[in-house]
Amino acid sequence: MLDFTIHTKVFFGENALDALRTINIKKAFVVTDPFMVQSGAINNLTDILDDLQVPYSIFHDIVPDPPIENVGDGVIAFLKADPDTVIALGGGSAIDAAKAISEFALKISGKSNAHCIAIPTTSGTGSEVTSFAVISDKQNNVKHPLVSDSLLPDIAILDPKLVITVPKIVTADTGMDVLTHAMEAYVSTKSNDFSDALAEKAIRLVCENLLCAYSDGTNLFAREKIHNASCIAGMAFNNTSLGLNHGLAHSLGAQFKIAHGRINAILLPHIIKFNAQVKDHDSETYNDAAIKYANISKMLNFPASNISEAVNSLVTAIIKLQKDMNMPTSLCEQGINKEDLNLFKKEIAKNALLDATTKTNPRTPTINEVLQIIEDIY
Ligand SMILES: [Fe+2]
Repeated sequence: MLDFTIHTKVFFGENALDALRTINIKKAFVVTDPFMVQSGAINNLTDILDDLQVPYSIFHDIVPDPPIENVGDGVIAFLKADPDTVIALGGGSAIDAAKAISEFALKISGKSNAHCIAIPTTSGTGSEVTSFAVISDKQNNVKHPLVSDSLLPDIAILDPKLVITVPKIVTADTGMDVLTHAMEAYVSTKSNDFSDALAEKAIRLVCENLLCAYSDGTNLFAREKIHNASCIAGMAFNNTSLGLNHGLAHSLGAQFKIAHGRINAILLPHIIKFNAQVKDHDSETYNDAAIKYANISKMLNFPASNISEAVNSLVTAIIKLQKDMNMPTSLCEQGINKEDLNLFKKEIAKNALLDATTKTNPRTPTINEVLQIIEDIY
C-alpha cells in the first residue's frame, strides 16, 4: 500500500497575496532576510497586515544557507513574540529557517501549533510545500537536512509579482534547481503515478518558460509558470525525495560555496547519463530511469527515435538551456581550483553517499563512481 498527501493549501496567480485578507491571523511573526526590508519588498506583506490591524514582529536576520546560530537567534525572537502565525517571506533560506525556528520554538515552549504561511520570493526550492529544511553547520562545511511532516507549511502563497525583480543569475540558478527537483522526483525509487504527474508538469513548465522568465523578468506569464513549477516540483519530491544530484550538490555546495541551483545544473546532465547508462548501449533492455528520461524527451518533442537518442536529446537540451542562460557547465567554468577539488574530493564523495537524498537515486553509486562524476563535472 502507498499513500500520497499534499498538506499545504496553495494560493497562486496574480494578486495571490490578497489571500492573507481571508486568513484569520491574531499575531504574526514574520521571518525574512535583510534584503526584503532594505528593498521595501516587505511592504507588500506589512501593508496588508497593517490594513487588517494584525500585530506583528519581524525577524529579518536570515542569511543564505542559514547556519544553526541564525536559527537559534530566530527561536529566541519567536519565543519573545509568542505568535499564533509564522509568515515566511523570502527565498528558500528564509522559508527553511522559518520552518526550523517554528519547529524548535514550539518544542521548547510546549505549545502544540502555530500556523505557518510561506510566501516564496524566488522560484526554486519548493520549500513552501515540503517537509524539509536545510540548516548549515558552517564550521564543518556540512548541510543538515531536517525532515519532518511538522515542517510542512499550512498555506503557500505564490504571487508572481513578488518574483519579477529577481535578478537574471538567480532566475537561472533557481530555475535549474526546480528542473533538478522534478527530474530527480521523476526517476526516484519512490516515484509513483501521482508524483510522476506533478514532475512531468513541472518539467514541461520549466522547459517551456524558464528562458523567457530569464530573458524578460517582467514577463508575468512566464514568471507565474516558473513560480508554479517550483511549487509543483516541491509537491513531487516531498513524496519521492531526490537523488544523487542533490546528494552531491549538498556536499560540493557546502565545500565550495556554489549556489545550490547552479551546482545542481552543472551536475544534472552527468547524473542523467550515470543513471540511464545508455552510453554504447546495444541491447533492447534499458533501465527504468533511461525509459523515464526518454519519456520526458518524447513529451517535449525532442529527437527520440530510440531510448538512447531520447536520453541524449534530453542531456543536450539541458546543456543548451544552461548555455542560453550564460551558466557555467563545469566546476572549472565556475572557477573552482583543481587542486582544491583534488584535496577535498574524497570527503565530498563520502558526504554525498551519506546524504539522505542519495538513498532514493535510481542507481546506487559506489564511491569510485561518485569520484568519477566529480572528475567529469570539472
Ligand atoms: Fe534543490
